[in-house]
Amino acid sequence: MNEDLTFNSKLAELYDKNTRISIPTYDSLFAMIQSYYRVQLGEKAASLLVIGAGGGNELSAWGPSNPRWTFTGVDPSEEMLKIAKHKATELGLKSRVNLIQGTTDDIPQPDSKFDAASCILVLHFIDNVQEKLKLLVSIKDKLKSGAPFALVSAYGNHDASELQARLNVWKSFWIDAGRETSKIDQMVNDAITKLSLLPEKQIEELLAESGFTQITRFYSTGIMAGWICHAE
Ligand SMILES: C[S@@+](CC[C@H](N)C(=O)[O-])C[C@H]1O[C@@H](n2cnc3c(N)ncnc32)[C@H](O)[C@@H]1O
Repeated sequence: MNEDLTFNSKLAELYDKNTRISIPTYDSLFAMIQSYYRVQLGEKAASLLVIGAGGGNELSAWGPSNPRWTFTGVDPSEEMLKIAKHKATELGLKSRVNLIQGTTDDIPQPDSKFDAASCILVLHFIDNVQEKLKLLVSIKDKLKSGAPFALVSAYGNHDASELQARLNVWKSFWIDAGRETSKIDQMVNDAITKLSLLPEKQIEELLAESGFTQITRFYSTGIMAGWICHAE
């Protein structure tokens, strides 16, 4: 393995390990979304738009088991895209994967709209409500009418006791994985308090305002939740 690949594979391992501590049902989440897409898309060839494709986990979870799906992955982070590229190469998916460094604005106009989309663990990094709305509208505009869309994000109100209670659940995942309490408190200060969170109701309202229908929450673990919906 050359130096760059070794570096990427170490990064990928670390990302995968930590994400699965933060979200112990992470793999089930991808399996659930895959089931939903499969039922909606049937046996036909389908094009999937993956927003925040950086970690490459959408590609590794859905690529090998769905040989008729192609993936357009978008992510502004060069480092995260290196992980995705690494996984696509390792799994022999390169011919079905197009990775774009940037945001939805950087996706070239495709010949036809996408059959499905995902935006997993991205929305809470988008700073304000207007920017979140802009992102959701731009995803909706790239989808065929009726196409399924899966959104997964941290949610809540930073000042509410309800979020504090879920944060305690999240902390317990890290304690159980052997992380020191001081390091967990540091993660809360450095990362969690900086997330741009909205309460569940407001996320559902944003989805509706962006042109998605049949908005259904199908998932929740710790501080995260997931919604399935369809482009109008
Ligand atoms: C926690 S990672 C999640 C990656 C992957 N979806 C997963 O579940 O493993 C969040 C990713 O969102 C990317 N991101 C941040 N802002 C974005 C935007 N406006 N459009 C697309 N991706 C974005 C980050 O660079 C990062 O790679």
